[in-house]
Amino acid sequence: MNQRISETDRERIAQRDAALAARPKLELHLHLEGAAPPDFIRAQAKRKKTDLSRIFDDRGAYAYRDFTDFLRIYEAACTVLTTPQDFHDLTLAVLEQSAAQGVVYSETFLSPDFCGGGDVIAWRDYLAAIEAAATQAQRDFGITLRGCITCIRHFGPQQARQIARCAQATAGPFVTGFGIAGDEGQFHPSDFTYPFDAAREAGLGLTAHAGEWGGPDSVRAALDYLRPSRIGHGVRAIEDPRLVDKLAEAGVVLEVCPGSNIALGLYPAHSRHPIDKLRRAGVPVTVSTDDPPFFHTTMTREYIQLAQSFGWEEDIFAQIAQTALDAAFCDAQTRSDIAKKLETTP
Ligand code: ADE
Ligand code: ZN
Repeated sequence: MNQRISETDRERIAQRDAALAARPKLELHLHLEGAAPPDFIRAQAKRKKTDLSRIFDDRGAYAYRDFTDFLRIYEAACTVLTTPQDFHDLTLAVLEQSAAQGVVYSETFLSPDFCGGGDVIAWRDYLAAIEAAATQAQRDFGITLRGCITCIRHFGPQQARQIARCAQATAGPFVTGFGIAGDEGQFHPSDFTYPFDAAREAGLGLTAHAGEWGGPDSVRAALDYLRPSRIGHGVRAIEDPRLVDKLAEAGVVLEVCPGSNIALGLYPAHSRHPIDKLRRAGVPVTVSTDDPPFFHTTMTREYIQLAQSFGWEEDIFAQIAQTALDAAFCDAQTRSDIAKKLETTP
């Protein structure tokens, strides 16, 4: 149907979108390598004389068929990120991009698997480079980065233990969290209790990807065996009302990435995404982009889609930001600094 929009409506929408773009945002679920702009990866491939043309479509965007293929393409892109300097440059590029979206606090998944294969000594060098870039980005773009070390489920429990060793060795003011990503269809959360217990003992905040490709049982198992305070995605909890109640009662925070779920074919559009139902049921939800260039999204685009699809207004976006601030894996001083930035919301 050809719907006409009046001039006044057009202006109102433009004003709303500008306000959403300017709003200070917190992002709790972003994979550092997954945020790499395709041009960045192409330049690295050229420098390293590696042919990666198969991972791009004819417009130069990342090309994948489904979730498994996405993980394969993601890992192929990572093969040209080989030195601490590469990760320094990547971190700076990603933070500049995030800051341009109004992000003032970013919690980013860092993967020692792609930074020296999980060797603790090599990981320290990569981490130092990432942290140096974060310091520069804080100064130049006013964005704060905290690292959440993530193991990768389909690389198996043994390798996850090694990643937990990297996390234990570098836990501190910058590395503040530990998580698990990757193919939810492989292994079981009970296989990963050791790395999660080790990370908890090291004082790290915990999050686990679940309820993205797995259903409610996958979320329940992650909660039971890994005991995270947050779940990455978790959206398929909506298929089980008792689990929704449990999440709401326990205050488990969902890192929801609607654009990612849509690009990977989980839901057909933002308007059919369960985020609003989960929120209305009392589940604490936050909004992130996951791997923005892979999914053709940005934080501002997510906010605009949510406003359009569910009529979310200022109060709900303020609530989302407060939920993210409360759930962030950071120290009290950082939390208070970010709270001040939220107070300046235009
Ligand atoms: N790694 C990067 N993005 C991911 C996703 N959406 N699910 C699982 N693992 C991932
Ligand atoms: Zn993710």
